Amino acid sequence: MKLVSIVGARPQFIKAAPVCKAFQKAGIDECLVDTGQHYDDDMAGAFFRELDLPKPAHSLGVGSGSHGRMTGRILENTEAVLEEEAPSAVLVYGDTNSTIAGALAAAKMAIPVIHVEAGLRSYRAAMPEEINRRLTDHISSLLFCPTASAVENLRKESVAGPDTGAGLLSQAACGALRPTGKPIVANVGDVMMDALLAIRDREIEDSLIDTLAPQGYALVTLHRAESTDDEEILKSLLNSIADLSEAMPVVFPMHPRTKSSLERAGLNSIVDDRPGLHCVPPMSYGRFIRAQAEARVIVTDSGGVQKEAYMLSVPCLTLREETEWPETISSGWNRLLGFRPADLAATCRNVRPPDGEAPAWFGDGHAAERIATAVTAVLGG
Ligand code: UD1
Ligand code: UDP
Repeated sequence: MKLVSIVGARPQFIKAAPVCKAFQKAGIDECLVDTGQHYDDDMAGAFFRELDLPKPAHSLGVGSGSHGRMTGRILENTEAVLEEEAPSAVLVYGDTNSTIAGALAAAKMAIPVIHVEAGLRSYRAAMPEEINRRLTDHISSLLFCPTASAVENLRKESVAGPDTGAGLLSQAACGALRPTGKPIVANVGDVMMDALLAIRDREIEDSLIDTLAPQGYALVTLHRAESTDDEEILKSLLNSIADLSEAMPVVFPMHPRTKSSLERAGLNSIVDDRPGLHCVPPMSYGRFIRAQAEARVIVTDSGGVQKEAYMLSVPCLTLREETEWPETISSGWNRLLGFRPADLAATCRNVRPPDGEAPAWFGDGHAAERIATAVTAVLGG
């Protein structure tokens, strides 16, 4: 058995880290393909080094571009790689353009697709990631869901059969999976939980976070198309973040998309020269996890960051109208503020963690092992 795994964007490097290790441990022959969707060192190369990822066997170097151009280039280049490698299956992560392009290249060549982080839905039909994840799920053979609600979503679309269990599958049950001729759907837990547990206890020095009082600052990230493409929305969000920095220090590691939108729209003056607002380049994973763990509140439009806030028991305010992670909302740890939050500073000042323990919605930190076991059981025979 040989797998080709496709990564290309920052969160995919992080998700791949525990999975690559579990595959190595299980003796699975994996060939990593980096599409090059993200290419700045602090969005890509730095994660390979920090997380000790295997060197990609193929780097497609597609870079940035419109959706069609990027997806098309990845599709064409991946097809050539698959012709050369002739894998037993192709594994893709999440919902980026790299995900759908890699999955489509494989499905058209009748190579089974394995989707890690399957079944998530925002039900915002026009969202680029919703298109990518929905289509990927519908052409996948092995769908690894991170949560029970993701399995439920796949049942509603008849990707999962009505009898598919939504609970976290045991290692033994993963080992007992067999090919059925239909898509196999399994809740294995979230590989981002595995990644977080592997890095959380590293001692990480940080010249900025070291100067801030623990639980005394807000950590902000912003990068979604919905937040950054429309100049009015971006301006209003940046004004809210600037106001917030008058109420408490703000750490704002800026995604390159946001930086370039802000510069293009001439909005730098909103964030420049504000003593409480620390706009910094994208952080390494370890630094960012520490920054999250010590924050009083996290304000974000990121999918992964909402989850990590929950896993680290830090209240989260999400600058979106919906989320793929409804568990974080129902348990009271996350709140949707939309793209135009009314008074972000007051909301952050008043935010409190909910009472009681946060349920383990995202598994037990062994998702990658379950994936390795299930892949061996289904494809290894
Ligand atoms: C992509 C994913 C999104 C994911 C995010 C993770 C899609 C449609 N979107 O969004 O789901 O949440 O990655 O971070 O796949 N840029 C650089 N250097 C880089 C990468 C990007 O300067 O290394 C800039 C370029 O101006 C580029 C822009 O960021 O045009 C957007 O990059 P792109 O990969 O298209 O989308 P993201 O917003 O990063
Ligand atoms: N992250 C990071 N450095 C940063 C910001 C985020 O390492 O400066 C990590 C974060 O811990 C999470 C992932 O990047 O694991 C989230 O990626 P992003 O927000 O870019 O994408 P999304 O999850 O929304 O697809």
